[in-house]
Amino acid sequence: MSRTIQTKFTDHAGVQYPIICGAMYPCSNPELVSAASNGGGLAIMQPVSLTYAHGWDLREGIKYIKSMTDKPFGFNALIEKTNNKYIERMSVWIDIALEEGLRFFVTSLGKPDWVCEKVHAVGGVVYHDVTNRHWAKKGKDNGVDGLICVNNRAGGHLGDLSKEQMIEELHDMDLPLICAGGVGGEDELSDALRLGYDGVQMGTRFIATDECNTSDNYKRAIIEAKEEDISWTKRISGVPISVIKTKNFRQENSWLVRKLLSGKFKHLARTFISIISYWRLKSIKQSDEKNGSPKSTELYSAGKSVGTIDNTVSATVIMRELGESINGVKTSG
Ligand SMILES: Cc1cc2nc3c(=O)[nH]c(=O)nc-3n(C[C@H](O)[C@H](O)[C@H](O)COP(=O)(O)O)c2cc1C
Repeated sequence: MSRTIQTKFTDHAGVQYPIICGAMYPCSNPELVSAASNGGGLAIMQPVSLTYAHGWDLREGIKYIKSMTDKPFGFNALIEKTNNKYIERMSVWIDIALEEGLRFFVTSLGKPDWVCEKVHAVGGVVYHDVTNRHWAKKGKDNGVDGLICVNNRAGGHLGDLSKEQMIEELHDMDLPLICAGGVGGEDELSDALRLGYDGVQMGTRFIATDECNTSDNYKRAIIEAKEEDISWTKRISGVPISVIKTKNFRQENSWLVRKLLSGKFKHLARTFISIISYWRLKSIKQSDEKNGSPKSTELYSAGKSVGTIDNTVSATVIMRELGESINGVKTSG
């Protein structure tokens, strides 16, 4: 019989296990989100992924996820102030998510005060992505309820500090702390909980699943990669993103792009690079599907947990088995 592992995070999220399937652009398709939440942890939907990458109207997409799970799932709000139009759209999306009953929000970048205001008004919680004490303090001052501690082993945008350094820096913040980065299996999960984290957020492990509808070549690249094959590049979004190293791998952008990224229009330049990357990724996926072998794998983002991943299984099974493997964690009492 399944049990509940209680931490401050599970109390906040209303889930059985202190495990988050993190938001992933463009990998968070609705089937993955619902499957991961069905396993007893919390999956976070990514609205840009849902609408742009997977073609859903936001409300219809949320309804579709809800048709596949009656468990809670959360919402990722990237709130970096690139331009007012983007923030206005995100604000409308948050309202829709709240209307649809979502109560767990993860903010990334930017100042989360206005998100906290909306979410707290209906009894929800906001966790904020941070990479060090400076950003953690800003998040706390802006009213967040928990911190996602992104470390130097994470997939996607990565931090500079190890999970041990992060807990050392943030343990006295009096907020629940989630370890994001490098957790692929039971050993790293129990390690993080033993260090004092209230939960973990995993990304890379959930790409190599039956329900993630990314290309088979991406999944295979994750399964075949070892920790040493992971590096980072600024070529996807203008800031370091961890990727699987390939023949064509380059860390830095061209001289011209670097100049644009450090100038007055750096936010615009980052948006532009992200759009180009999206189209490149889309064309790689189409080419992978057509040819059965990758044209180029340079844009496969993944973290150092690849070393622990050797198969593709159901996201529900991953969640359930990891949750059931937890022994003797502290409770929120
Ligand atoms: C391909 C990919 C895309 C990601 N996109 C996002 C995103 O849009 N928003 C976000 O907050 N985190 C994003 N992340 C970070 C994950 O939610 C999670 O924190 C991270 O993957 C944890 O590290 P792990 O990959 O070692 O498990 C992404 C990660 C990956 C691998």
